[in-house]
Amino acid sequence: MSNYFYKKSLKDLLEVSSEGHQLKRTLTVTNLIALGIGAIIGAGLFVRTAAAAGEHAGSAVTISFLIAAVGCAFAGLCYAEFASIIPAAGSAYTYAYTTMGELVAWIIGWALVLEYALGAATVSIAWSEYLNKLLGDSIPYEWMHSPFESIKNLDGTFTSGIMNLPALVILGLISLLLIRGTHESAIVNAIIVFVKVAIILLFIGLGWQFINPANHVPYFIPEDAPKTLLPDGNWYDYSNFWNHGWGGVITGAGIVFFAFIGFDAVSTAAQEAKNPERDMPIGILGSLLVCTLLYVLFSHVLTGVAPYTDFIKEGKEASVAYAITKYMPGYSWLSFSITVAILAGFSSVILVMLMGQSRVFYAMANDGLLPKVFAEVHPKYRTPYKSNMILFLFVGFFAAFVPGSVAGDLTSIGTLFAFILVCAAVWILRVKEPNLKRNFKTPLVPLVPILGMVVCFAMIVGLPMPTLISAMVWLIIGLIVYFMYSAKQAAIKRNLKNK
Ligand code: ALA
Repeated sequence: MSNYFYKKSLKDLLEVSSEGHQLKRTLTVTNLIALGIGAIIGAGLFVRTAAAAGEHAGSAVTISFLIAAVGCAFAGLCYAEFASIIPAAGSAYTYAYTTMGELVAWIIGWALVLEYALGAATVSIAWSEYLNKLLGDSIPYEWMHSPFESIKNLDGTFTSGIMNLPALVILGLISLLLIRGTHESAIVNAIIVFVKVAIILLFIGLGWQFINPANHVPYFIPEDAPKTLLPDGNWYDYSNFWNHGWGGVITGAGIVFFAFIGFDAVSTAAQEAKNPERDMPIGILGSLLVCTLLYVLFSHVLTGVAPYTDFIKEGKEASVAYAITKYMPGYSWLSFSITVAILAGFSSVILVMLMGQSRVFYAMANDGLLPKVFAEVHPKYRTPYKSNMILFLFVGFFAAFVPGSVAGDLTSIGTLFAFILVCAAVWILRVKEPNLKRNFKTPLVPLVPILGMVVCFAMIVGLPMPTLISAMVWLIIGLIVYFMYSAKQAAIKRNLKNK
């Protein structure tokens, strides 16, 4: 019989996780931080910083980054506690299954689709924008935009997008790699991280000399900032509460929050950490700290080099290359190398996201909540290849036909939602199982989980209304699937196991 509040026992989970201990414990704390940075730095920094600055926060996008970082740090502390209790099955879905029951676990799993699958779609769209920059803007507009986007031509006519073909291609290539079982080893990841960080430092160092202090004044967008004509022919109005001042900074935090997504990927590597109880918290929080520092400096330079109003018009896509080309004469080589490094960096984010998604689906299918096709492993490559193929179709659909900003906001909402539930789960487990051995303890429970929930909730509220509505629709679809299919299947599976 269906049991919406059925909880997996911690004993079962720990048994499963100890099977995973056959994996080699090779990751040092440096590797873990590198893994985090590899999954974290991507389109959030290189695309959404400009969108947040141009549309909502202006130069104060630096403060948006700090707010988003604080929310992530609270959630990160909670993730660290769970990762140290259940070092193999380190995902929000599993944490919820032990503490809040099947229905909530399902909702988290469903929300994680927004995080991982739509995250991959968003980054692939950004990948396509940077590829176009690298090719000298030679990809026709209609073949790299969704049908919901259009641009006004010089003769007054409009060109609409058809589909985003390059995004589809990169997703296909990475899905093929995943099917072949190509494993992003710590060394390859470290190389990509090295290139990404080096390029960011180079931009900060060289760009600093090109900062025009006038671009930082006023630091917040004023309420009476002039309306701006957009490429689609509409006017953008800053007088709305969420488009200037502190309202804009909070909305900006919801937008740039995307740049931090991925630190939870560190928790999935717990079973391969040499010393998880000590290193997991350092890996999670260390990568967050490094990224926050880089983000604040980077956005300070970007909004200093180019005025924020540029980023709502022509500088919106591929903003870094744009700022360098327009405002840093003589540095076209930097624009070129930054674009190549960004493309490589995006690819690793897409890879980790698609891999994370197939892992969550794998776990859900093993519990009977999803069809078993998602748990089928290729006989030779040992990868969930069917899941990878289905995911390619699903993610590819979004990448090809949905605008990047919409997919990105949905990614943020799904992740924020998962963070809120992980914060709640830590608190619940502390009350219900106070004597459980915890190798890492979140400090000041329940204060830290409560603050985590409040900050993440504030960032959800700051997201655009259409995004909130789309997320609600997604949740309702999820509930229908659960009550019509998943709950029954999971019960059948449980009964078979218990026989
Ligand atoms: N944090 C990742 C990025 O910014 C998802 O691309």
